[in-house]
Formats: sequence, C-alpha cells, structure tokens
Amino acid sequence: MKSLWLHVPLCLLFAVIVPSFGVILTQPSQLTTNTFDYIIVGGGTAGLVVASRLSENSSFSILVIEAGINDHGEVPLQIPFNAPTLAPKTIYDWNTTTTEQVGLAQRIIPYARGHVLGGSSSINFLFHQYCAADDWNRLGTISGDAQWSWGHIRQYVSKHERMVAPVDGHDTSDQFVPSTHGTSGEVSISLPGSNNSIDSRVFATTQQLAEFPYTPDTSGGDNTLLGLGFLQSSSSGGVRSSSSTTYLAAANSRPNLTVLVNATVIQLIQSGNSSTGAPSFRTVHFVASPAPGNLTVDTPIVVNARKEVILSAGTVGTTQLLQLSGIGNSSDLGHIRINTIINNPDVGNNLIDHPLIPNVFEVTGSTLDGLLRDPTIQNASMTQWLQNKTGPLANSVANNYGFFRLPANSSIFETTPDPASGSKSPHWEIIFSNVWFDPGFAIPATRLFMTVVTAVVSPTSRGTIKLRNNDPFQPPMVDPGFMTTDFDIFAARESIKAALRFVAAPAWTDYVVAPFGSIFAVGVTNDTTIETYVRGQAGSAFHPVGTAAMSAFGASNGVVNPDLTVKGADGLRIVDASVFPFIPSCHTQGPVYLLAERASDIIKAAA
Ligand SMILES: Cc1cc2nc3c(=O)[nH]c(=O)nc-3n(C[C@H](O)[C@H](O)[C@H](O)COP(=O)(O)OP(=O)(O)OC[C@H]3O[C@@H](n4cnc5c(N)ncnc54)[C@H](O)[C@@H]3O)c2cc1C
Ligand SMILES: *[C@@H]1O[C@H](CO)[C@@H](O)[C@H](O)[C@H]1NC(C)=O
Ligand SMILES: *[C@@H]1O[C@H](CO)[C@@H](O)[C@H](O)[C@H]1NC(C)=O
Ligand SMILES: *[C@@H]1O[C@H](CO)[C@@H](O)[C@H](O)[C@H]1NC(C)=O
Ligand SMILES: *[C@@H]1O[C@H](CO)[C@@H](O)[C@H](O)[C@H]1NC(C)=O
Ligand SMILES: *[C@@H]1O[C@H](CO)[C@@H](O)[C@H](O)[C@H]1NC(C)=O
Ligand SMILES: *[C@@H]1O[C@H](CO)[C@@H](O)[C@H](O)[C@H]1NC(C)=O
Ligand SMILES: *[C@@H]1O[C@H](CO)[C@@H](O)[C@H](O)[C@H]1NC(C)=O
Ligand SMILES: *[C@@H]1O[C@H](CO)[C@@H](O)[C@H](O)[C@H]1NC(C)=O
Ligand SMILES: *[C@@H]1O[C@H](CO)[C@@H](O)[C@H](O)[C@H]1NC(C)=O
Ligand SMILES: *[C@@H]1O[C@H](CO)[C@@H](O)[C@H](O)[C@H]1NC(C)=O
Ligand SMILES: *[C@@H]1O[C@H](CO)[C@@H](O)[C@H](O)[C@H]1NC(C)=O
Ligand SMILES: *[C@@H]1O[C@H](CO)[C@@H](O)[C@H](O)[C@H]1NC(C)=O
Repeated sequence: MKSLWLHVPLCLLFAVIVPSFGVILTQPSQLTTNTFDYIIVGGGTAGLVVASRLSENSSFSILVIEAGINDHGEVPLQIPFNAPTLAPKTIYDWNTTTTEQVGLAQRIIPYARGHVLGGSSSINFLFHQYCAADDWNRLGTISGDAQWSWGHIRQYVSKHERMVAPVDGHDTSDQFVPSTHGTSGEVSISLPGSNNSIDSRVFATTQQLAEFPYTPDTSGGDNTLLGLGFLQSSSSGGVRSSSSTTYLAAANSRPNLTVLVNATVIQLIQSGNSSTGAPSFRTVHFVASPAPGNLTVDTPIVVNARKEVILSAGTVGTTQLLQLSGIGNSSDLGHIRINTIINNPDVGNNLIDHPLIPNVFEVTGSTLDGLLRDPTIQNASMTQWLQNKTGPLANSVANNYGFFRLPANSSIFETTPDPASGSKSPHWEIIFSNVWFDPGFAIPATRLFMTVVTAVVSPTSRGTIKLRNNDPFQPPMVDPGFMTTDFDIFAARESIKAALRFVAAPAWTDYVVAPFGSIFAVGVTNDTTIETYVRGQAGSAFHPVGTAAMSAFGASNGVVNPDLTVKGADGLRIVDASVFPFIPSCHTQGPVYLLAERASDIIKAAA
C-alpha cells in the first residue's frame, strides 16, 4: 500500500519550517549520569505526557528511553493525509504482525505501532476523542477508584486539549460544542480543514434516515458518543500534533529532562527488595537500537532510578518487557528459560482490540483517489501543503464518522450479555472516507471509490501477547483473537448491513454505484456470506489494550493497582494503553492522553 500513497520529494523536506527543540540525545555515551529520579521506558503517547508533567518540578530528574528515532524534521509524519503510509514496514514502525488469526480465515495481519519519538501518536490517523463517559465510569468501578470515573477525569480535558480553528477557516459552530473542549492545553485539535465533497451527503443522510442521528460533537466525554458528526483530529494548521510536538516540545528545554532516542530497553532488573519484601525494579538495561538484521547486540548499559521506573512502551512493548523481566506466567516463562520473579499469569492475557472492515463502494463524482494515483494531482496538493499547509493533505483521511448501538431486541442479546460499558455506549462505528482505503490492496487503475469503514467497538474477543523466546529482539507473539466470538461476528455483520442502508439513502442516489469488488459485492447477500466476507477482510484499528489490566488493590486478578503500580513489585508503574481492563469504545489516543495526565498527578503526589 505504501507506494500507492504520497511520497514526499526529498528535495522539499528541508523547506519545511518546524518549531525549535531542545537537545535530544542519540547516543548512550552522551548520558552524563546513570542515575535519575524517574526512568520512563518508551517516549510514546503516554510516556511523553508523564515526562512533561514530572519535569514541571525542577527537583526531579527524568530520563526517557525511546527505541525509535527523533520525529523532529520527519516531514512524512507531519502530513495528516499521509498517515496510512507510515506503517507497516517503514522506519517508523515496529513491523509487528499477528499470529495466524483463527477468526480471520487463518490470515496473519500487520500490527502497527510507532517506533519513533511520540510513539503511535506520531503515526496514527489523528482521530481524536475521549470515548463514552461510561467507559471511564466502568474503569472507576472495576478499579475501586472512583477518581478514574468521568466526573473526575473530565478535568484533564482542559490540560490536554487546545481546540484551534480548522485550516480552511470554515464556520464550525454546529460541528462541535465549545464548552466541552479545552482551549489552552497541550495537544491541538481541529475540525476538518478541507471539504471532502461527500460531507454534505453524509450530513443529509443523518436527516433522511432516523437511525443515523447527527451529533453536534463526536468527542464523547461530556457529549454523547452516539450519533454521526464531524471528525476532530490531532492537528493544527494542517500539521500533525503528537505527544512529541506538544508535551515534549513544551518541556524539552528543561535541564532536568533527558530524552535518549535510538535506544532499546531489553530488561528491568531486580534491584533489591522493599521493606515489605516486594522485589524492586529500579534498574534498567538498554542497548543502542540495533540496525535491522544486525543480531550482534552490545553489552547492556545500566541506568538506575532513585524513585521509580515507569513503563510506557505501549501494550505490546510493555507486556514484552514485563515478561523479559520475569513478571508473568511462571509456566510460560519457565518454558523459555526466564526466571520468574513475580508469578502473575494475567500479564499478557486479556488483549483486546477493535477489528475494522474497509467496505469499498464504486462511486461517481469527485473523490480523493487522484491523490493515490495521479502524479499531477499529487504534485499540486503537495505544492499546496508545502506552501501554506492547506488542501487535501492538510486533512486526515476522513471528515465524518459516528458510533451506534445494536437494537435492544437483537437476537445476539439472547445469548450474550450487552458488552458495552453502558446503555449509551456504542457497539459499532462507521467512518466515511471519500477515497480507496483498503490496506494491502492496490487501488485499481480506473474508477472512483468511497470507503465506508465499519468497526466493532465493544468486542468480546480476547487474545494474548506472549514471548517466543528470551531474546528481547524477537517480536512477541501477538494474538488479538479477532472475531472469535459470536458477538463480534454479529456486530460486524450488522455494521455492514447498516453501511449498506446508509448509502441507500436518497443523498447517495447520484453518487454510489455499487459495493465494489467480487468479495464485497458477492459477500453482502446473506448472513453466511457476510460472515465469510468479514473473516476475509477485517483488520486491526491498532487499538490494543488490556494486557497489564488495572484492578482494585487486593484483587485476585489484574496486573496494576488503581495507582498504576505493578502488583507485587516495588518501584515500578505502568502508564500506557495496556492498563485499560476493557477497551474504551472509541479511538484510543484521547483516553491514553487523559490516563497519562492523571497518572502524572498520582506519581507527583506519591513523590
Ligand atoms: C497506525 C495507527 C493508527 C492509529 N490511529 C488512531 C487514531 O486515528 N486515533 C486514535 O485515537 N488512536 C489511533 N491509534 C491508537 C493510538 O495511537 C494508541 O492507542 C496510543 O497512541 C497508544 O499510546 P501508548 O502510550 O500506549 O503507546 P505508544 O504511543 O505506541 O508508545 C510506546 C513507545 O514505546 C516505545 N518502546 C516500545 N518498546 C520499547 C523498548 N523496549 N525500549 C524503548 N522504547 C520502547 C515505542 O517505540 C513507542 O514510542 C492508532 C495506532 C496506530 C499504530
Ligand atoms: C521496519 O521495516 C522497515 C522496512 O523494512 C525498516 O526500515 C525498519 O527499520 C523496521 N523497523 C524495525 C524496528 O526494525
Ligand atoms: C462541501 O462542498 C459542497 C460542494 O461544494 C457544498 O455543497 C457543501 O456545503 C460543503 N459542505 C461542507 C460541510 O462544507
Ligand atoms: C536538574 O536540574 C537541577 C537544577 O534545577 C540540576 O541541579 C540537576 O543537575 C539537574 N539534573 C539533571 C539530571 O539534569
Ligand atoms: C530479595 O529477598 C529475597 C528473600 O526474600 C532474597 O532471596 C533476594 O536475594 C533478595 N533480592 C535482592 C536483589 O536483594
Ligand atoms: C541509531 O542506531 C543505529 C545502530 O546503533 C545507527 O546505525 C544509527 O545511525 C542511529 N541513528 C541515529 C539517528 O543516531
Ligand atoms: C551491529 O551492532 C553492533 C552493536 O551495536 C555494532 O558494534 C556493529 O558495528 C554492528 N554491525 C553492523 C554491520 O552494523
Ligand atoms: C499459564 O501458562 C500455562 C502454560 O502456557 C497455561 O496452561 C496456563 O493457562 C496459563 N495461565 C493463565 C492464567 O493464563
Ligand atoms: C511538481 O512538479 C514540478 C515540475 O516537474 C517540480 O519542479 C516540483 O518539484 C514538483 N513538486 C512537488 C511538490 O512534487
Ligand atoms: C494556499 O496556497 C494555495 C496554492 O497552492 C492557494 O490556492 C490557497 O489560496 C492558499 N491558501 C491560503 C489560506 O493562503
Ligand atoms: C426489533 O424491533 C423493531 C421495532 O422496534 C422491529 O422492526 C424489528 O423487527 C425487531 N427485530 C427483531 C430481531 O425482533
Ligand atoms: C447465501 O448466499 C450464498 C451465495 O449466494 C448461497 O450459496 C447460500 O445458499 C446462501 N445461504 C443462505 C442461508 O441463504
Ligand atoms: C517538587 O517535588 C518535591 C519532592 O516531592 C516537593 O517537595 C515539592 O513541593 C515539589 N515542588 C512543586 C513545585 O510541586
């Protein structure tokens, strides 16, 4: 898919003006000390929030260790429409793949995650929202800590978010609810900056079909997550906002904050025992990130934390590092000759992700397909973006999306309890992209396309992340267990039927020709064929959570306590997507940002 999307001409990369940064270390030898108050493993979405907030207190010294390169000056990361080209198999991706998916016709699928400063916030599709209030309320209940509930978490929106005007300056008064947004936080958020020509048809459909109501704000949180409206993206002035370009940029000149890129943590080492006998994990071993294919690994470099080590390596990376460090299922670890220090079989279990299905329609009219296959259009839009950061490239790949519930009388509820976090939380999602969007399949040379992606946002399938062996450079076995429950198949099937009803509305009569492609066209005739189509087409939304799940203090299950300390350990916390015990029912970067904001307050309070 990569070559089908835009390439940035190298000669133009240097023309882009970017904000100035403090120093980012690229070589371990540049460290002037090996002891810090806090060591943050992973300079990703959550890790850089924590680094930024902790470094506000100049009495703390903080080291961030990031495996990937510095994102600064990497123009492909900055262009919103370019997001789908950033993974898989680029220098910005870990290139992880899943195990053979029994629910997906035995396919092995890409499992993108950022391998660059800013982590997945540097490569994601920029969709930004907070999910349903009940997603947070459920977390409050499960963790036994009411301060994870929305009533407490909502305060972090204003610290996190800076809502800015869209780059085309259009009137946004009925496209978001200003009182529910921040205007002076760290990450810039904006409404679409370029009309994708189907925007008014999508809007008209919300008025023609009662089952798809319009929502004046898609961010969730204080707004209902249900309904369909305009997409808010983590961008400003036509350029991506990541945790690196925002939280880190604001903090990087502080003398107490040290960021080392291109360095891969391979293990946390037991550094002693706490007064209560819990093993302490304040020692970190890392090496300069090896070039791909170089199997010669240097002698590990040792750094120590006076206060805490904070694991923010993302759901896959954190799970892998816990297991490499002897925190996991002792039977699994024993098989690969890792000495178990904390036997917790929940580490690596409960992997949850959102499966999505790209449903492609052939259409007539004005689409964005030229950006994928017409050099003249590519050149013109690139020239425009470079000139003043406007035009189609200044936008993410969709302008409209929405979230919906299955009808209460759906037959699936006779056998499966409702898995949503509440009666106003969605089961499925629909996203409108006026372009060919079918990862892994080249855009045909002719014809025009619109893609109506649907996704299951309250899945009941569960998977695992386990090590292959004790080599930290072997990718772990990631098994999201996609489509292994009746509920997930049911919800996926109903989402596709809904997409077909949507495009059958009067608003589309002169636009949509038909479902495109032999698989989709044949696959939508009845429940059996739709199921086959889903199993053959579904991929990942790259929203993995759950493998270091939060639970109440003293609970017999779970990996972290409500204060994010690792159960049974001393000096070690986890702050990233892995701690969500259930998957939030929307795109996950907003929830990760809010989680990391509160985590920073918890860590400061414990200092
Ligand atoms: C392609 C893609 C598209 C997405 N689209 C959206 C979207 O549009 N909207 C949305 O809300 N969400 C989206 N997401 C999901 C969202 O970005 C993630 O849920 C969120 O960013 C995860 O944050 P995190 O802090 O848990 O992990 P990450 O941001 O992934 O950070 C983990 C960091 O740790 C580093 N690391 C890992 N292991 C090591 C190690 N051993 N040593 C040193 N460093 C290490 C990694 O390189 C990375 O920088 C997308 C994700 C991807 C991958
Ligand atoms: C992922 O693959 C790309 C292309 O092969 C490569 O350049 C990059 O270094 C790989 N990433 C990692 C973390 O190995
Ligand atoms: C988008 O453009 C179309 C056609 O130019 C116009 O009719 C419509 O009002 C615009 N929609 C939005 C939401 O700006
Ligand atoms: C942190 O900053 C203080 C001064 O504010 C300085 O004394 C200390 O050396 C710094 N530590 C690190 C690790 O940068
Ligand atoms: C921790 O305590 C145990 C006994 O409770 C002891 O065997 C072990 O050596 C101690 N580990 C360290 C690193 O001090
Ligand atoms: C990252 O490390 C690799 C191997 O250690 C090296 O080849 C590369 O030049 C480094 N990159 C940077 C930006 O320092
Ligand atoms: C492989 O990595 C090792 C350790 O970083 C380094 O010494 C060696 O030069 C690298 N080899 C190549 C061919 O890059
Ligand atoms: C621990 O691992 C063993 C061996 O793989 C497995 O049989 C067992 O079910 C695991 N325990 C849990 C709770 O997952
Ligand atoms: C567009 O094409 C012109 C003429 O070939 C070339 O000089 C210019 O660099 C191209 N611009 C981009 C952004 O590719
Ligand atoms: C940006 O540049 C394009 C030409 O590349 C021009 O058409 C457009 O009007 C400019 N927009 C702004 C806001 O300056
Ligand atoms: C659910 O109820 C609606 C009317 O509210 C009805 O049209 C539909 O047929 C019912 N579906 C099932 C599966 O009973
Ligand atoms: C579903 O459609 C397929 C293909 O048209 C057909 O072979 C099959 O018999 C149908 N199944 C049912 C249950 O109608
Ligand atoms: C910084 O942290 C220290 C140690 O916990 C604490 O005493 C001090 O009050 C903090 N400073 C600020 C400004 O919060």
